Amino acid sequence: MNKTKIFGHRGSMGSLPENTLLGFRHALECGVDGIELDVQLTKDGEVVVIHDETIDRTTDGTGYVKDFTLNELRQFSAGVTFSTFELFDEAEWKLERIPTLEEVLHLISPFQIELNIELKTTLFPYEGIEEKVLNLVNQFNYADKVIYSSFHLPSILKLKKIAPIAKIAWLLEEELIRPSEYVQSLELEGLHLHKDLLLKDRISADDFSIRVWTVNDEKEIEQLLNKNNIDVIMTDFPKEAISLRNIR
Ligand code: G3P
Ligand code: CA
Repeated sequence: MNKTKIFGHRGSMGSLPENTLLGFRHALECGVDGIELDVQLTKDGEVVVIHDETIDRTTDGTGYVKDFTLNELRQFSAGVTFSTFELFDEAEWKLERIPTLEEVLHLISPFQIELNIELKTTLFPYEGIEEKVLNLVNQFNYADKVIYSSFHLPSILKLKKIAPIAKIAWLLEEELIRPSEYVQSLELEGLHLHKDLLLKDRISADDFSIRVWTVNDEKEIEQLLNKNNIDVIMTDFPKEAISLRNIR
């Protein structure tokens, strides 16, 4: 069987609201090898799972995550803006709230799946987020299952300094000359690459982990499954990707 792992991107955002417990539960039901999620920090220092710096796109509220306490954020629906052609219960989505990282760890830890935590620290540095995330992961004894990633290199390097055993990966949308040298000198565990870098052969390596995002097209998934140096495919449709992988 093909060994490439399938991660649910922001849970299973092709079918259910992104970065919600509902979506993460669905990803677990699909049998994912891991999930990817995004974290930001609230005004009162809670690590919450949400992609954007603002709540405008994914909830019925407006404003920056960093300007709300967790209790204030809980007023808003994290499912109300979602729409899909699939047959899921819309009423259920509307009850979803922005989850904390702690809640997600509580949900997934019995399943021992892998977890990719993306630190969304490019726009706001979120003082102390690296320590908080590490502490939560340790509380659940989950350190060996977690890969920390970010577009913002200083954030993952800081995290690695605090926890030298942590696996860190740099998120890239553009090609990098001599990627292995970066991986070695920065002590990265791997690179998380935009799919086009691999589909168009703009980057290649076989001496570090490659995880690729976000691949939803069936033909592209097949193409990437045919390469033998990709550890993980992240997709919004984990159920379909797992079926494609399992028939090989
Ligand atoms: O971690 C891979 C991917 O999630 C990065 O892009 O914008 O979906 O967070 P984005
Ligand atoms: Ca992400």
